[in-house]
Amino acid sequence: MTDYLNEYCMHDHTCGQLRAGDAGTKVTLTGWVWHHRDHGGLIFIDLRDREGYTQVVVDPDCVTAEEFTEAEHSHREYVVKVEGTVRLRGEDAVNPNMETGEIEVLASSFVVLNTSVTPPFSIEDGIETDEITRMKWRYMDLRRPEMFQTIKLRHTVAQAMRAALNKRGFIEVETPILANSTPEGARDYIVPSRPNPGKFYALPQSPQQFKQMLMCGGIERYYQIARCFRDEDLRADRQPEFTQVDIEMSFVDGEDVIDMMEGVMAEVLEAAGVEHPFPLQRMQYADAMEYYGCDRPDIRFGMKLVNLTEIVRGCGFGVFSKAVEAGGVVKAINAKGAGDWSRGEIDKLGHIASDNGAKGMAWIAYTSDGKEKSPIIKFFDDETYAKMKEALNVEPGDLVLFAADTADVANAVLSALRMHMAEALNIPREGHALLWVVNFPMFRYDEQEKKYAAEHHPFTMVPPDQQHLIEEAPLECGSYSYDLVMDGFEAGGGTIRIHNAELQRRILRVCGLTDEEIDEKFGHLIHALELGAPPHGGIALGLDRLVMLLAGKQSIRDVIAFPKTSSASDPMTGAPSEVTTRQLKEVSLRTL
Ligand code: AMO
Ligand code: AMP
Repeated sequence: MTDYLNEYCMHDHTCGQLRAGDAGTKVTLTGWVWHHRDHGGLIFIDLRDREGYTQVVVDPDCVTAEEFTEAEHSHREYVVKVEGTVRLRGEDAVNPNMETGEIEVLASSFVVLNTSVTPPFSIEDGIETDEITRMKWRYMDLRRPEMFQTIKLRHTVAQAMRAALNKRGFIEVETPILANSTPEGARDYIVPSRPNPGKFYALPQSPQQFKQMLMCGGIERYYQIARCFRDEDLRADRQPEFTQVDIEMSFVDGEDVIDMMEGVMAEVLEAAGVEHPFPLQRMQYADAMEYYGCDRPDIRFGMKLVNLTEIVRGCGFGVFSKAVEAGGVVKAINAKGAGDWSRGEIDKLGHIASDNGAKGMAWIAYTSDGKEKSPIIKFFDDETYAKMKEALNVEPGDLVLFAADTADVANAVLSALRMHMAEALNIPREGHALLWVVNFPMFRYDEQEKKYAAEHHPFTMVPPDQQHLIEEAPLECGSYSYDLVMDGFEAGGGTIRIHNAELQRRILRVCGLTDEEIDEKFGHLIHALELGAPPHGGIALGLDRLVMLLAGKQSIRDVIAFPKTSSASDPMTGAPSEVTTRQLKEVSLRTL
């Protein structure tokens, strides 16, 4: 690799390349002035390029007077070209923390290729600069070694994906960016069409329908490193435009897609230098919700949710018994090690609970010196209380947190508290844990829209023995679906698709579409299914999330070269920005 880097350019070595064995070699280096020190007549410069850095010594006796003045007046981020000879450093000057720390280059020529005004922040790893500043000067941020390493890891992962998929007979196909809306649950980014006044394209939320069309087109195995666009509330693991490794296969069932993906992931993880056992664990969606309260559990630690519904049914504590009577649940987590927390600290947890929809957060603290503190113990008879303690495996030093509500709310509350307590108690979560969460329900009820919506997307296959539930009991209807979960994040998701036109119509009807709407919005898909669509299925991995986790970063913004802020803007280019009245007129638009 390094040798290629020295072809077609001004230098013959990179700044990360030289070692003791190169002593005596004449070299030409180019790069940025990183650190600049004037040691009584000798100038020491750490010269940095993307491969590393090398100490350059400029001695007035070895360069011309003009060159020495240039070196003296070079500042941080000046771009320079140095010719010189590699020499061993004196024993006390060897820097074992630096890959090139055994040598330095004594300059025989020093040329400034470009100057730099004072940088907006220091180009160092681990800097505390606020993120907006880093994004405004993103090209400066990218000069930080850790940023380059992350961008390079992203490249390594993408190339490993390509290689693994190519090897398995997948063909890379590009699908349109100017497309029609496809339902993935977010708002669309829309683009007006000039030749079609009043009409709009939607940028794809995913290439879902196109990849199904490719299967109908006989491509059989497709992949694409696809840019997707979703106008949704942004979080650390979401961006308005992001990248999927999008995959589709014909003549497969769910097992086949899972096996293929595991083979590919094993190769990708190896390329990224990460060890993980295969085959991966599989967890039923229902179990993920029951024991972790969410469909993307971080299984690197325990603190599972305990269901106390049957134990507290009819008990003396009204909050619990009423929740059960109303058809809800009572669940709890046992945070071991928090039993001595103060009232104030526990009250703060209550805010996390209420942010997630809780009406309150009952708790019992078991102090390490054997006391029991809680506003609610008094409400329970001895037998119920003993059963609760047993179910929760209580010991001194434990803090138990309860949620009594609908299953959805109780799960959301306890899942958030579980993650918070793991962080607060510093529970070790080293390494990576991948698993499959499988068999999601086909539908969920959308309270806001007052209608059923597909849990994954409406193209998902319902197992034949459950198809009678589609209209009869939508919420009980399962689906052939699988999410790849990594360290508590949804790294990917996929399903087996419907390849029967009538079944597709039934699902879309349950989602509230009339037959006219189905023909208008999905007519192309229905026709394709009528014209000999093969059984097919696939998956899409979130490349940004995957790289974020592999790089140990907290945000996907750190693994995207030019990310957007939480208000979907780019502080560097100023996008989004206003357009002229003329531009608007051309596309038949007026702003309010
Ligand atoms: P899904 O909507 O689950 O499935 O998306 C697949 C994966 O894409 C990633 N992802 C995101 N990453 C960053 N920012 C976002 N806003 C964002 N939204 C999603 C996640 C997610 O697991 N067409 C289906 C796939 C299929 O059925 O084959 C789809 O798009 O890691
Ligand atoms: P209250 O009877 O409302 O004063 O509540 C008694 C205790 O139960 C307090 O600690 C509340 O925070 C807690 N609590 C109230 N509602 C719930 C709920 N839905 N789930 C769990 N705990 C609750």
